[in-house]
Amino acid sequence: MVHAVYPGSFDPLHNGHLDIIRRAGKIYDRLTVAVLHNPLKGANLFDVDERVAIVRDVVKHIKGVEVDAFGGLLADYMRRVKATVIVKGLRAISDFEVELQMAHLNRQLNPSAETTFIMTATRWSYVSSTRVKEIAKYGADVSKLVPPAALRKLRERFDGLQAG
Ligand code: PNS
Repeated sequence: MVHAVYPGSFDPLHNGHLDIIRRAGKIYDRLTVAVLHNPLKGANLFDVDERVAIVRDVVKHIKGVEVDAFGGLLADYMRRVKATVIVKGLRAISDFEVELQMAHLNRQLNPSAETTFIMTATRWSYVSSTRVKEIAKYGADVSKLVPPAALRKLRERFDGLQAG
């Protein structure tokens, strides 16, 4: 039984994340989407409970996928939940540079956890939560970039966001 963890800020979850969740969910017996609880005030648009609620809503029909929040080091969280695989999505070389460093450091911190990479589908390779928030802030349509649960939350936060 392989338990994998897909960690991230998910602020908010977008279609690229969902693509990785669906594909990783087919590979591993159990997949936990682990939402980072960043205690730094203002670090995220949505607080951890809101981000978890969005992910839960989106993945509720995907078998073998669960959602959790974590704080502190990912390496420690992996130990705590007895998971052995870290899943990361790669969009571009720029992601790779950051992820390579994190993979080596995480392996040093927890040699039982192996990092694996899934290449983001090309149709979502240009999508990031940062850009989604930026576009939504100015009221433009992001309905093709995020799942409905995330869109609803963005609409609550940004009055006048286009319906799509
Ligand atoms: O979606 P993000 O913001 O790119 O995700 C980054 C995340 C949450 C995977 C990364 O920041 C992380 O693992 N944070 C937990 C703290 C930690 O373990 N830091 C050391 C990594 S080597």
